[in-house]
Amino acid sequence: MEEGKDPATITTVISRSNQSRPLPQRLMQLLALFLVLCFTISLFSIYMMRKTGVVTTVTSAIPILQPCIQEQENNSLDRWIAPPSNLIHTMSDKELLWRASFVPQVKKYPFARVPKIAFMFLTKGPLPLAPLWERFFKGHKSLFSIYIHSLPSYEPRFPSTSVFYNRQIPSQIAEWGRMSMCDAERRLLANALLDISNEYFILVSESCIPIYNFTMIYRYITRSKYSFMGAFDDPGPFGRGRYNPNMLPEVNISQWRKGSQWFEVNRKLATIIVSDVTFYPKFLEFCRPACYVDEHYFPTLLTIQAPKLLANRSLTWVDWSRGGPHPATFGATDITEAFMMKLHEGRKCLYNDRPSSVCYLFARKFAPSTLQRLLVFAADFLGY
Ligand SMILES: *[C@@H]1O[C@H](CO)[C@@H](O)[C@H](O)[C@H]1NC(C)=O
Ligand SMILES: *[C@@H]1O[C@H](CO)[C@@H](O)[C@H](O)[C@H]1NC(C)=O
Ligand SMILES: *[C@@H]1O[C@H](CO)[C@@H](O)[C@H](O)[C@H]1NC(C)=O
Ligand SMILES: *[C@@H]1O[C@H](CO)[C@@H](O)[C@H](O)[C@H]1NC(C)=O
Repeated sequence: MEEGKDPATITTVISRSNQSRPLPQRLMQLLALFLVLCFTISLFSIYMMRKTGVVTTVTSAIPILQPCIQEQENNSLDRWIAPPSNLIHTMSDKELLWRASFVPQVKKYPFARVPKIAFMFLTKGPLPLAPLWERFFKGHKSLFSIYIHSLPSYEPRFPSTSVFYNRQIPSQIAEWGRMSMCDAERRLLANALLDISNEYFILVSESCIPIYNFTMIYRYITRSKYSFMGAFDDPGPFGRGRYNPNMLPEVNISQWRKGSQWFEVNRKLATIIVSDVTFYPKFLEFCRPACYVDEHYFPTLLTIQAPKLLANRSLTWVDWSRGGPHPATFGATDITEAFMMKLHEGRKCLYNDRPSSVCYLFARKFAPSTLQRLLVFAADFLGY
């Protein structure tokens, strides 16, 4: 082995220098000092390169040195399971969807995981019914997380005590019936998937209200065998009539589904939605404006990819009884005791394959003017 030689050589050099005058000894000290300096500088530059990704000139060494002490890399498991501390990021949609598509291959979590429900608010901006939601969430901090997608120009003004404080995700304009609406929903899902403790994902709007208390809703969702996505085969012009044969071979007409966009999916289905690269381009190209892609893309995608996991119904009740192209919007005068009673009454559906009278957990559409009356009735009629 060649290596053995080097220490020997060094020893000879040292012993020789020991024999000689003090001047070379000084030289040795200088050399050692120089080596220590080199070592320190290289350590520092390795740190800098890791931190910034580039070799920067040491112009402002002191401010850069400070985070070195504070932001020690945390190599415990926490590093992988702690949710992002800040929802604002600079990832593009493409980068975000890729990042969100990660799935652990070991199915059992090596830590006590309490599954959370991610409430994803798809809004224009303000949340006029926020005080009602605040009351609904109160006392359940460890069981939910909130994500808000609003117009990019909207600047939220929630107090730091609010559950909605700093819960905005980087957003873009979303238009009803267009792919940009599906993009917004995928963006919400992807951001929520970054928190590994989120297991259920619910899409709601600013005009939505919960019609049971949190405990009840949490139980209903976590104990369900199925996810709740409205998905039905509508033979009429607004269903199959919107199917375009150019979607073959990915989608044939018997797989074409329609449903409202207000869904609840589990982590598995959320991952299918954010990772889809097969169906997305087909819908983008062949589901044109009159097709209302936001009513078809998710229901059709999930019917093809995971039909056995779908309840094929939505958890969000809307009132179509007034006729017309849009469901009814309730105003302050609609909110009476009789109305509140009716929210729970006369329902019939299947829950875990058994008949149930609890079919909807949310209702819409409620105008901002309903807030005060809803706050008055919530305790007696909604249980929170
Ligand atoms: C690293 O994670 C552990 C485990 O939760 C935590 O106690 C600790 O404060 C973290 N350290 C840093 C430097 O963030
Ligand atoms: C939630 O509502 C259910 C019934 O709807 C009720 O039995 C329960 O006591 C309520 N829980 C709380 C914490 O109010
Ligand atoms: C549509 O595709 C499914 C699955 O590939 C197949 O079972 C079914 O027969 C097809 N239906 C039509 C009408 O082509
Ligand atoms: C939902 O529909 C799919 C087919 O579209 C079906 O395979 C599945 O069994 C349905 N779910 C329930 C709970 O009936």
